[in-house]
Amino acid sequence: MSDLSPETPEQKCLIEAVGVDKSYSTKREVIHVLAQMNLKVLSGEVLGIVGASGVGKSTLLHVLGGLDKPLTGSVLFQGKNIYKQSNGYLENFRNTHIGFVFQFFNLLPDFTALENAMFPALIRNQDKRLAKERAEYLLCEVGMKDRMHHKPGELSGGESQRVALARGLVNQPDLLLADEPTGNLDYHASDQLIELIRKLNEEFNQTFVIVTHSQRVARKLDRVMELVDGKVGPTSQNLVI
Ligand SMILES: Nc1ncnc2c1ncn2[C@@H]1O[C@H](COP(=O)(O)OP(=O)(O)OP(=O)(O)O)[C@@H](O)[C@H]1O
Ligand SMILES: [Mg+2]
Repeated sequence: MSDLSPETPEQKCLIEAVGVDKSYSTKREVIHVLAQMNLKVLSGEVLGIVGASGVGKSTLLHVLGGLDKPLTGSVLFQGKNIYKQSNGYLENFRNTHIGFVFQFFNLLPDFTALENAMFPALIRNQDKRLAKERAEYLLCEVGMKDRMHHKPGELSGGESQRVALARGLVNQPDLLLADEPTGNLDYHASDQLIELIRKLNEEFNQTFVIVTHSQRVARKLDRVMELVDGKVGPTSQNLVI
């Protein structure tokens, strides 16, 4: 594994952040999170992002996924600046190209695991039967076959996390942005989930950006970068996988 970005003719850049600045203003202070941050994600790669708690990994995923506009800089998806398009573009971009696995799952509490996993497909007006088939398939793949009709309040953290992954994948997005998708899982469930990601990557050439604290997970990814001081770069010595 290398943390260089070997762009070959077969592996074009899918999404790129260029000179991105992102800060949060609170009543007391301004927190600078991303500072002139650059990152290229190649089409068809499984990229890991590591970094200390609070460094801005979730913020980075939100910026890449069209959920949080940076103060300056651009995010280019297939060469197009996603934050400089007409009204409605971002919503369509997210629904069409992006899958998201949020760090804290964001499942809808009144709906079952299956309904939650189907949700992005229904928003996209997909055929309900196909959406159900695909959500069921993914829930089985992440070991949730026997919990499909449970609501989030009846699920463990790890189970909710697996539902969130199924939901992120239901539309077969070009790019899945997953924020610590194995954070609540034991080794077995974590390995199973990474195997699914690798399988989808190989079969459908889907691209993944995975934030993780786990070296066990990072070792199985194509490339790992570290977020430090607002910038993404090669991993430091003690994080070499
Ligand atoms: N809405 C917000 N308002 C103010 N500050 C915020 C907001 N969201 C995040 N922050 C701050 O921005 C910094 C980066 O947060 P972020 O959640 O991106 O970090 P992270 O690397 O994902 O951390 P963790 O590994 O703990 O999940 C943190 O200092 C956090 O406190
Ligand atoms: Mg985070």
